Amino acid sequence: MRRFEGRVSIVTGASQGIGEAIARDLAAEGAAVVLVDVQLDKLEAVARSIADAGGKAEAHQADVADAAAVERVVTAVAATHGRIDHLVNNAGITRDGLLMRLREEDWDAVIRVNLKGTFNFSKAVIRTMIAAKYGRIVNIASVAGLMGNAGQANYAASKAGVIALARSLAREVGVRGITVNAVAPGFIATAMTDVLPEDVKKAYLEIIPMKKFGLPKDVASAVRFLLSDDAAYITGQVVSVNGGMYM
Ligand SMILES: NC(=O)c1ccc[n+]([C@@H]2O[C@H](COP(=O)([O-])OP(=O)(O)OC[C@H]3O[C@@H](n4cnc5c(N)ncnc54)[C@H](O)[C@@H]3O)[C@@H](O)[C@H]2O)c1
Repeated sequence: MRRFEGRVSIVTGASQGIGEAIARDLAAEGAAVVLVDVQLDKLEAVARSIADAGGKAEAHQADVADAAAVERVVTAVAATHGRIDHLVNNAGITRDGLLMRLREEDWDAVIRVNLKGTFNFSKAVIRTMIAAKYGRIVNIASVAGLMGNAGQANYAASKAGVIALARSLAREVGVRGITVNAVAPGFIATAMTDVLPEDVKKAYLEIIPMKKFGLPKDVASAVRFLLSDDAAYITGQVVSVNGGMYM
């Protein structure tokens, strides 16, 4: 029996990178996966490819920062499936720059997607999970949210925010059978990190004890664990997937 047979999992930012890997992983474990992203074409391609592999997936275009759009997705999913077991808040962006030069719009954009988006989806699913007395929420944070990162004050603050949000919500809903955790990836090879200059990548490698970058599937494995029954008594925690970069 596959681990998530009969479960319904929402994964945001699922059209590529870490979110896509998480969605494929959960679908392979039998979950009906609800893919959410702003990029509809890519999202539909991922959904088709999951279906071709025998999995269950549906694509919903929405901006996670748009509370009304998020509410519409969650209402539709609850109506179709009658349940929402898992929420993985993965959608995220960067707008890097030293604080002294950081534009207000870059601050706002990152907080809006990374932090408010996580709030919007968590709020939208929580009543359904409370009614079911069951739920698993995982926020994708970042090593930057734990140790800070020069040039990423906005991003690091947003990621520290999703950790504190997870812990606060964990305290609110633990008694309802719902766990809320965070996964903090280090340097993972995706489109987000591809764009970094070679000297920056080299500097990262130097501070990673395992001397290699992580892969999206490394993050997906940690998420799978936190969503599974094996993690039934784990809540309010941060699991780092960073090759030892921060410990
Ligand atoms: N790659 C890394 O090294 C790394 C490290 C730590 C944390 N993370 C986090 O992991 C998550 C995934 O990152 P990734 O590396 O796969 O990046 P990515 O840029 O490849 O993927 C991010 C996805 O989020 C989607 N997205 C962006 N804004 C959105 C919005 N407003 N609404 C809905 N979807 C939106 C994008 O379209 C994209 O599909 C992010 O939260 C990121 O901050 C990544």
